[in-house]
Amino acid sequence: PIPSGITCAGDYEDRAAGMFDPATFAYLNGAGADGITARANRAAWDAIRLEPRVLADMRGADTETRLFGLNLAHPLMLAPVARHGLAHPGAECATRRGAAATGSLMVVSTQSSMAIEEVAACAPGPFWFQFYLQPRREDSERLLRRAEAAGCAALVVTVDAPVSGLRNAEQRAGFVPAGDCPNLDGLRPPVVRDLPGRGPTFLGLMDAAPRWGDIAWLKSRTRLPVILKGIMSPNDALRAVEAGADGIIVSNHGGRTLDTAPATAEALPRITRAIAGRIPVLCDGGIRRGTDVLKALALGAQAVLIGRPQIHALAVGGATGVAHLVSILRSELEVAMALTGRRSIAGIDAGVIWSSDGSSP
Ligand code: FNR
Repeated sequence: PIPSGITCAGDYEDRAAGMFDPATFAYLNGAGADGITARANRAAWDAIRLEPRVLADMRGADTETRLFGLNLAHPLMLAPVARHGLAHPGAECATRRGAAATGSLMVVSTQSSMAIEEVAACAPGPFWFQFYLQPRREDSERLLRRAEAAGCAALVVTVDAPVSGLRNAEQRAGFVPAGDCPNLDGLRPPVVRDLPGRGPTFLGLMDAAPRWGDIAWLKSRTRLPVILKGIMSPNDALRAVEAGADGIIVSNHGGRTLDTAPATAEALPRITRAIAGRIPVLCDGGIRRGTDVLKALALGAQAVLIGRPQIHALAVGGATGVAHLVSILRSELEVAMALTGRRSIAGIDAGVIWSSDGSSP
């Protein structure tokens, strides 16, 4: 049962904040370093103004869309988030049930609390797998085969976190990532070598970190679409196309990696311009309202992903909470489309955005 009075994603956040110990909430809701990028993500969506349109013919309107061969009821997806078990005993299975009930694609994290096979089995319908390339190719290959065998429909390769960002809030609150990661069972962690004068980041994690060549390798090992998550630079977006990526996700990891990186709403239009329709572009970071979704689509995204709010809804209401959250955002998107006179996802273009100087977009 959903507690009464929950009307939007922000209400779920407020309710969830009181349910966790400070250390766990610092992990689940926190950001990198000073949180500048995380705040910028929100502020940038808020700063975009929409142009209301009236008396449009909205008969037959819908939010359906198509992505990598999948027919989706709406363009709202669940971003990969590690360790759902911290938020709810049902963990990723509860999230997946909520996602399935609302026709939203869930991207299951490599660092899920439950094994990918278990998450796959607990609800019908397609899902994607977020893939961290492993320091050793044979380990990447094993993880890949597991994800394929479990039935994932696409691989989301997260490329913006070869090292964790600075997590000062977590450190202050004393968060210790407990529990192992069932998807990485039997795989070897990166070896940190010891050389005087060089720090552990460069010696260990960056020595073993994925490089562009690994994307071509992964493409050669799978027939699944490979979508790179964490692209913020137009140059990297072009490189992703060259490397054979089937799609990209404009993301700054919810502001959890490089603090002072721009908001995704700032990067998105530059990247869609560079990509020029060659591959689908998705976007996440700070999406909390249907109007945010509309704005992302107007700037050229084909779909958006929701990170922290799914964890808030999961903590408050389990599978029902997740389903409720997605339904709220979907209804909000419909309201936003109705009031900007757009009848279909394909009909959402830059024209919905109010241009402050009066020029046409
Ligand atoms: C994440 N994110 C993430 N991304 C990823 O590729 N693999 C992962 O395992 C995780 N884990 C993770 C844990 C937690 C607690 C959070 C909050 C985020 C990043 C996530 O996919 C997404 O990019 C952001 O969360 C989107 O921003 P919002 O919606 O949280 O503002």
